[in-house]
Amino acid sequence: MDGGPLAPQNALRRAAEALSTRRIEDLFKTDSDRAAQYQCQAQGLTLDFSKHLLDSPAWEALLTLADSRALPEAFLALISAETINTSEQRPALHTLLRGTGRDRQPEKSAVVEATLARMVELTDDVHSGSATGFTGKVFTDVVNLGIGGSDLGPRMICEALSSASDPLRAHFVANIDPEDLDRVLTRLDPATTLFVICSKSFSTEETLSNAARARAWLWAAGAEGAALGQHLIAVTTRVTDAGEWGIWPERCLPIWDWVGGRYSLWSAIGISIPLALGWPAFDSLLTGASALDDHTGSASPAENLPMVLALLELWQTQYLNTDTHAILPYAHRLSRLPDFLQQLTMESNGKRVSAEGEVLDYPTAPVLWGSAGTIGQHSYYQLLHQGTRPFTADIILPLVSGEGDTSARRALAAHALAQSRAFMVGRSAAAARDLGQSRGFDEVASRQFELPGNRSHSLIMMESVSPHCLGALIAAYEHKTYFLAVLMGLNPFDQWGVELGKEIAGQLNGLLNTGAIDFELDAATLAAAHAWRAANPD
Ligand code: F6P
Repeated sequence: MDGGPLAPQNALRRAAEALSTRRIEDLFKTDSDRAAQYQCQAQGLTLDFSKHLLDSPAWEALLTLADSRALPEAFLALISAETINTSEQRPALHTLLRGTGRDRQPEKSAVVEATLARMVELTDDVHSGSATGFTGKVFTDVVNLGIGGSDLGPRMICEALSSASDPLRAHFVANIDPEDLDRVLTRLDPATTLFVICSKSFSTEETLSNAARARAWLWAAGAEGAALGQHLIAVTTRVTDAGEWGIWPERCLPIWDWVGGRYSLWSAIGISIPLALGWPAFDSLLTGASALDDHTGSASPAENLPMVLALLELWQTQYLNTDTHAILPYAHRLSRLPDFLQQLTMESNGKRVSAEGEVLDYPTAPVLWGSAGTIGQHSYYQLLHQGTRPFTADIILPLVSGEGDTSARRALAAHALAQSRAFMVGRSAAAARDLGQSRGFDEVASRQFELPGNRSHSLIMMESVSPHCLGALIAAYEHKTYFLAVLMGLNPFDQWGVELGKEIAGQLNGLLNTGAIDFELDAATLAAAHAWRAANPD
């Protein structure tokens, strides 16, 4: 980090050095107030960060850093539509989609409000049956066709909040592999299926390929001519292109270049959410996110939940050498949260040059991954407990999640808290020796039972998996991502790294199609392309 925008942070380095021989559980023993001190709350969320290898000198130094990097001012720049996406010369105004800062942006706010009104109307028309399929039957299913930010957010929310009484069943198709769409369509009736084609650019190959295949499926069922339009909604910045593709103008909903794809679930990109769950759920989602925006704009750094999340990740990645971050939700409803946060974190902050183009000499975004507890416990937690790679984790525990079978839900919560404690305390050499002896192992073999513990992690408790709390949770992670970008000197709103693969795929598609090649290609890729052609003769 020397020489970078964070340098020099001697106090943090000294604090990390001093803590390198300490154990988190000992920090609890010397500070009776620790559990309460390292905690902050907002909008039904409680972030307990007492089980990080962190003490007062480190925490004070992190707060000083937050101050020196002007995080509150950076948040103001975000909601004030400053051109913070410098490489694309735009603001990043996803907060306006939930009403935050509307007084500062009357014109943009008016188009947001107008689009929300169109979404309400469309949702009402579908639910009331005034908008039907081509045979006059009411819609029963909505299929979202989109990828990346045009898929992961709405998919995650619908899975988290779905119930048996939802107005429509929601399905999500992202992969260009035809299996993805085909598996969904075999279960559906064309007469009662509504498609939402979500693509900010309206040029993403996967989405346009799936949309064309969905259109052909409708045609084949008899939804021809004007009737086809009854089954289609588009959400894009290119409404003219969508119109030319065959979507009725009144079914083409806009988004704007000042909304990043991975920050767009609050826009019409999220219309599958109210279509599937009803408008009140979407409205509460926006309200929860907006309330978290208010918290972020007003709370002091020490009590500012997204800022604390950002400072903890910076501490872990820059000073404690952690390079992966596990998201471990203990609620099956939140199974898709790691996927969503993966794009948010890794596409935003997976960068190696600063916003000014300087090569960074410190690690940026960690590899983010995870899955719902308790499933991961029977898979990769072994590595978390006894492996050699440093990681950090967020254990997410809704206090209320779903209904039914109290004893199973109690067991789930017990596992979440047990893992949190096990990450911290591990099993000492002496305890491993005793356990080994009781099982007939000698001293050397008993080392297998030793768990180092001292694994820094956060526990995030949510009051419930309600739309409000979920909106707040997602907004908190969005702002965490932005604050980290500010701390690291990055632009989190572009993603130039994904372009090269798309370009080469275009070339290779031609080669796989015709066998002809007019571009430079290595022998290994060429051989693989020929193997594919041989297995797929025309
Ligand atoms: O290729 C990456 C990406 O541009 C993401 O940033 C985006 O969320 C996704 O593709 C989908 O883009 P679009 O909404 O334009 O189809």
